[in-house]
Formats: sequence, C-alpha cells, structure tokens
Amino acid sequence: MIQANDKDALRVVMRGYRSNSETTAFVPTLGNLHDGHLSLVRKAREVADRVVVSIFINPTQFDKAEDLAAYPRTLENDLKLLKQEKIDLVFLPEADEMYPEGSAARVEVDGISDILEGDSRPGHFSGVATIVAKLFNLVQPDVSVFGEKDFQQLMLIRRMVDDLDFGIEIIAAPTAREESGLAMSSRNNYLNEQQRNAIAPKLYAELTAIHKSIQAGVRDYLKLQKEVTEVLNQQGFTTDYIEIRNASDLSVAQENDKELVILASAWLGKARLIDNLRVSL
Ligand code: PAF
Repeated sequence: MIQANDKDALRVVMRGYRSNSETTAFVPTLGNLHDGHLSLVRKAREVADRVVVSIFINPTQFDKAEDLAAYPRTLENDLKLLKQEKIDLVFLPEADEMYPEGSAARVEVDGISDILEGDSRPGHFSGVATIVAKLFNLVQPDVSVFGEKDFQQLMLIRRMVDDLDFGIEIIAAPTAREESGLAMSSRNNYLNEQQRNAIAPKLYAELTAIHKSIQAGVRDYLKLQKEVTEVLNQQGFTTDYIEIRNASDLSVAQENDKELVILASAWLGKARLIDNLRVSL
C-alpha cells in the first residue's frame, strides 16, 4: 500500500496507473474506519484495477454542533485495516494541503443542500461538495463508492457529478449494520454501552415499523412521522427529524409516490445518529 501525504505524491502515482490504462475506484473517508467503510472498499475492489482511499477530516463540513476536535482519530488502526484490504494507495493530506491560506472557492449544490441534514447543519453540504470535488480532481477516478447510509450526501454527490460533468460513476453501497440493526457509524463511538446496545438500535426498529405500516397501506405520512417522533423521544432520543420523502428528489412524499425513503436523524447523548430506509410500493 502506497501512502501519499501530499497532492504531488498522489498525482505521480495516479499518472502511473493511468499510463498503464488501469482503472481506479476511489473511496473518500473521514477516517475512524469500521466495517461500513470496509464494505465500500470491497465494493471498490470489485469494480476497478486500483483502489484509492483518502483519509481526511474535512474541517469545512463540521459545524458547531459536531465538534471537529472531538472527531475520533484512529490513523494507525485505519492504516492497518486498509493494508489488510490490500488497497493500492491511501491519501492522507493535512488541512493546509487541502485548504492553503487564501483558498476561497466553494462548491454549492443548490436545493438539496438546504433541506433535512442541510437545514440542521448549515454549510455542511457545501463543505462536503467542495472537498469531494477537490478529491475527485486530484484522484480522477473512474468510479467512486459512497454509502447509502448518508442518503442525502449520496444524492448531492450524484447531482454535483452530473451538473459539473465529472464523468465519474458513483456507486452506492448498502448500509452496513450491527447485529442489532444499528447503522455502523463513527458517531456510535460517542455512545456509552447502554445507549449503544439498548437504545440506539431502536432508531432502525422504528424505521422498520414505518416501513411496515406503509407497506400495509397507511398513507397518513404526517401522522406516522409524528407518532414515531414521540416514541423515539420517550425512549431517550431527541429527534431532529423523521421524514417520509420521495426517494428520487427528497420532496415531501405524496400519496401516489411509489419510491419512498424514510429519513431519520436523532440525538442520543452526545451522538447525532442518522439512518434511512427505502420503501418501494
Ligand atoms: O461521508 C463522509 O465520510 C464524508 O462526508 C466524505 C464523503 C468523506 C467527505 O469528507
């Protein structure tokens, strides 16, 4: 596994792959890798000759509520896991390498950036779009793999890639879950044992309950959202949103919509958990 700490080192390796006509699949990460990330890496391995992973705790996508300084940093273990997965190249830039003094350009994806996660975390998606665009420009992959757990992020990246003609195929990988149903996430590290084992899995359980009700014919989505919000709040969560949306554009779901997604965000202790579940009617 080659380790590139700066852009020039990365470009040299990428030029080599391209001159051998080797294809590249890219997995951007914030580090603190878990099985969810490794499932993205394995997907990447299936679809290209070379697998490139970046580990960069991107300061521009953090807001006050989620403290950049508190984000778990586990570089040594991350590198060990990536070596075991036999990836080809890991890119590990420092913040001033990605955002040198005076950087002023940002990527904005209108509309989708302002709702749900974007509404709760102003500026977050601009930070995500900007860093992913920069990483795409540096790596120039053929394919990039993103998790469905961050459903809105995935839609934002697809929109950006289409609108800015990146010519990169975006592959979605299913959400990796613990046995309890809890979606794997670095934020789960902020939970204590009791929260993690006894309460956090209820978020997915409630999404599953909504799914079941919709499949059974319930169409009063506002009522479903309200009921589940109350249940979760009684169980110790502080729910940010539970929303049933059209899966193609995240507009508020209408009675006749056939492809839906139930999106959830809720605080549990110090962790802000997000999850989602697709419903096809
Ligand atoms: O999903 C993440 O881990 C981050 O938002 C990403 C895509 C690596 C950008 O920093």
